[in-house]
Amino acid sequence: MSDIFPICVSPTFIVERSRVTEWHRAYIQNAYRELEGGITRKQLDNLGINANSKRVLDVGCGPGNLLVALSTDTPELLIGVDVDETFLVCGRSHIEKSIDPPSAVPTLFCASLPTLPFADETFDLVTCFLVMPHVPDDSAALTELARVLKPGGTLAVSGHGLGFPLRYLKRFRLKPLQMYLASLIYRCTGRKWIRNTLQNDRKICNILNSIGVVPEMRHYNQKILGCVATYWIKAIKSDTNPKAIQ
Ligand SMILES: C[S@@+](CC[C@H](N)C(=O)[O-])C[C@H]1O[C@@H](n2cnc3c(N)ncnc32)[C@H](O)[C@@H]1O
Repeated sequence: MSDIFPICVSPTFIVERSRVTEWHRAYIQNAYRELEGGITRKQLDNLGINANSKRVLDVGCGPGNLLVALSTDTPELLIGVDVDETFLVCGRSHIEKSIDPPSAVPTLFCASLPTLPFADETFDLVTCFLVMPHVPDDSAALTELARVLKPGGTLAVSGHGLGFPLRYLKRFRLKPLQMYLASLIYRCTGRKWIRNTLQNDRKICNILNSIGVVPEMRHYNQKILGCVATYWIKAIKSDTNPKAIQ
């Protein structure tokens, strides 16, 4: 595997003492409930994504729910990265329980967008679900995802649109306000005040086009008051370098 890890990352995942919060527990429980209910597989199917015989990277893999779904396609290589070690440590045991044979268990790394420890054009498929709200810079994150993708490879990203906070209106009145404010500040200043912003999926598509990753499918799994709650985009990295065209 040395060709995949040129940037000095040990393939051995080091389990450190982790701090598991109530939020982690609730997220993991819900993620694995959705996995068992077939919702995670459906998200991939809706985008026409299949990991069969591919080199696959899931960025912001959380507790590994998407990795488990991808593993059923028998990819050639399956790697998950996340910035949160707690998720990786907790996810590992869930992943091991859910995947058979053990040789199909993915490799997990702690890594953070916008810097991934992989060489250019390593993967056939890169998935990055519900991570865009948390990255420090949307363009930098998408550019890095595109960098590690082979020409002709598939990038699948999802995130939250303007309708997402409306789900929280009844329960947590401050949370929607905080998300709208954070998104407005990011739009005006380019800085994320809190890492939980909303994206305009058309803008995400524009960024993708500008870096030579062409969106071919976009769908929403929920609209609230006519506003997109969660968007899903599948895009293909073109064979031509967009910088060469300019
Ligand atoms: C809402 S969870 C999504 C988890 C999983 N992809 C899913 O679909 O259920 C967002 C994940 O992104 C991770 N994350 C946040 N910022 C990140 C960054 N800059 N680089 C990598 N992962 C990040 C978080 O730790 C968390 O696990």
